[in-house]
Amino acid sequence: MEILKKYSGLLQEHLEKAVPKKEPHQLYDPIKYMLSLGGKRIRPALTLMVCDFFGSDFKKAMPAALAVELFHNFSLIHDDIMDNAPLRRGKKTVHEKWDVNTAILSGDAMLILAYRFFESYEPKMFHELARLFSETALQVCEGQQHDMDFETRDDVTLVEYIKMIDHKTAVLLGAAMKMGAIVAEVSEKDKDIIYQFGRNLGIAFQLQDDYLDVFGNPETFGKQVGGDIISNKKTFLYLMAISQGSSAQAEELEHLFSISPKDPTDKISTVKEIFLTSGAVAATQIEIEKYSNLAYSFLNEIAILEKIKETLRDFGKDLMQRNV
Ligand code: IPE
Ligand code: IPE
Ligand code: MG
Ligand code: MG
Ligand code: MG
Repeated sequence: MEILKKYSGLLQEHLEKAVPKKEPHQLYDPIKYMLSLGGKRIRPALTLMVCDFFGSDFKKAMPAALAVELFHNFSLIHDDIMDNAPLRRGKKTVHEKWDVNTAILSGDAMLILAYRFFESYEPKMFHELARLFSETALQVCEGQQHDMDFETRDDVTLVEYIKMIDHKTAVLLGAAMKMGAIVAEVSEKDKDIIYQFGRNLGIAFQLQDDYLDVFGNPETFGKQVGGDIISNKKTFLYLMAISQGSSAQAEELEHLFSISPKDPTDKISTVKEIFLTSGAVAATQIEIEKYSNLAYSFLNEIAILEKIKETLRDFGKDLMQRNV
């Protein structure tokens, strides 16, 4: 993602200063640890990039960008507890390295640190940013709860799944971009369009994340490959395999997603095979294209140069080519 590199140096500098150097270490060390693991930093870079693209000084969007990245990292610390995940960005998850209680409280502190970044904006902008942030954060919680509920349900629909990923993931990408537009003080129409662009790209992004969870390269992926299968997550791949596979395949999948074997190796390889042969993988790629194209279609009406629209489309393409 070449385009985001412009912002990564300054972002890194600010992130290193984002956590107070004080006691108790047990509270702040896990936060520093999580941030030191890096990650792609897509969301904060998008906040800065959108502000930049709208012709404003992108440094003004730095506090909002930091808030978004801290919120994202908080949500990952708690998500890893909920998903029982051992690995994050190639290293131990916070609850594995420390313990669950530490991960809960450090996550909470990180969320509060995130909010504090908005304090540097003037009242009107503060209000607009904080309002979008709270609304988004609540939607993420709703999405995460649905995601958990789906683990034990066998009647999840496609519509429910899309709504779930829209909430747990896509709204934050939309909000990250909209914050850049808010700081750049563009028209309401342009703020909404860039939000829709980010949100639809976010749906495609989560579909790709679900794909990589199964088919990512364990050497480079940084998370436990097959984690979603182990947790019986009802992803697009699963729902497609049930609807497009043979009835024998559907029956086998339904059975496999109702059990939690101690050694999941066979379960994972059987599920992989069914995802491939049922046409679920192909259907997922088509769905990723569909939501990417939907995102691009919003750009038609936005007040930015054609060259910048092209750059945003290229960014979308790069994002869907990723392997981490
Ligand atoms: C992971 O997000 C969580 C999802 C919403 C899929 P990223 O893939 O952006 O994670 P990092 O920040 O780069 O590690
Ligand atoms: C996580 O979705 C979304 C949030 C953290 C809100 P996933 O559970 O799929 O994310 P990964 O795969 O663990 O990064
Ligand atoms: Mg997870
Ligand atoms: Mg999860
Ligand atoms: Mg995932």
